[in-house]
Amino acid sequence: MGKKVVFTLFICFIIASAVPSKGKDDDGGRNVKLLFAFGDSYADTGNLPSVSVSWKTPYGLTFPGEPSGRFSDGRVLTDYIASFFGVRAPLAYRRIKNFDAKSVVQNGINFAHGGSGVFQTLSDLPNMTTQIDFLQQLVEKNVFSTHDLSSSIALVSVAGNDYGAYLARNGAFQGLEGFSRSVINQLMSNVRRLNSFGIKKIFMTGIGPLGCLPQSTASNSYQNCNAALNNFSMSHNQLLEQNIFHLNSEAASPVFSYLDLYTSFLSALGGVPNRLKPCCIGGCGGVDKNGEKRYVVCEDVSRSIFWDSIHPSDSGWGAVFSALRESMQTSLV
Ligand SMILES: *[C@@H]1O[C@H](CO)[C@@H](O)[C@H](O)[C@H]1NC(C)=O
Ligand SMILES: *[C@@H]1O[C@H](CO)[C@@H](O)[C@H](O)[C@H]1NC(C)=O
Repeated sequence: MGKKVVFTLFICFIIASAVPSKGKDDDGGRNVKLLFAFGDSYADTGNLPSVSVSWKTPYGLTFPGEPSGRFSDGRVLTDYIASFFGVRAPLAYRRIKNFDAKSVVQNGINFAHGGSGVFQTLSDLPNMTTQIDFLQQLVEKNVFSTHDLSSSIALVSVAGNDYGAYLARNGAFQGLEGFSRSVINQLMSNVRRLNSFGIKKIFMTGIGPLGCLPQSTASNSYQNCNAALNNFSMSHNQLLEQNIFHLNSEAASPVFSYLDLYTSFLSALGGVPNRLKPCCIGGCGGVDKNGEKRYVVCEDVSRSIFWDSIHPSDSGWGAVFSALRESMQTSLV
């Protein structure tokens, strides 16, 4: 399972001991009190079991200074979003023992599981439907009041694990566009469900430029992004944006917001020397039989956008988020 998790494309990540967010609160008094996160490793803050690399050195190197279950040397998207709204990052669902303890769930809950998708991926992880079922069970038990839910926002991350699994199963791009429609249709029914619980704002990530991930550029020494994969990312995003537009036009207010990770990644990557090269190279977090590291860590991770072959670094997410922030502010007006 550890191995599978390592190789499952995209997404994974701490002890949800509510890692305090470092950023300045700037939600502009929007009165958001709880954050619920769903999806994959770009959002996960510790839902995977301890065999996952996200719980191994050197993950967590920068923050909090030890592995925390996040697929980063530090913070991930959820931490930046929480900070933006001035709330604490919610605890990871799997780390919560007692859901009746108000103090434990007062910031919301993170249901995201690294490696998961809208559909079943290669590992046996809770897909997004199951993650939403977890919340529904808690809502039915009145762990969250109507008032709690109406002062909540949700982050829904789909970074591409469904496509990674599709390509691994089929070995080819053939049929991928059709599969993309199924992914988005399922995603739309998922977020409708979230809205039916009364969550007031739902942020949905687009896919980043998959062709720029270190795993796509390693073969050319991290020099050039793969145009075909980036085209595919753009076509997924275009379809997603159209669907979000329709969903909002059916709703009384614009509940659903698109987070343009594609453009934000490209802007974060612009102008950074050696920008496509990850900091942790090799089987990051892995050791061989003799306990020797199978990876090499760069000298200054704060200069890297990517941490490992799939995931941004703490400062990489910072750069991506500063590009996202502007569009988030617009969508909240
Ligand atoms: C999600 O997982 C559950 C449990 O494995 C499965 O029954 C369901 O069909 C899956 N849903 C989707 C949309 O793949
Ligand atoms: C990517 O899309 C552009 C514009 O649609 C097209 O010109 C280009 O040939 C595509 N590249 C690949 C490798 O598919």
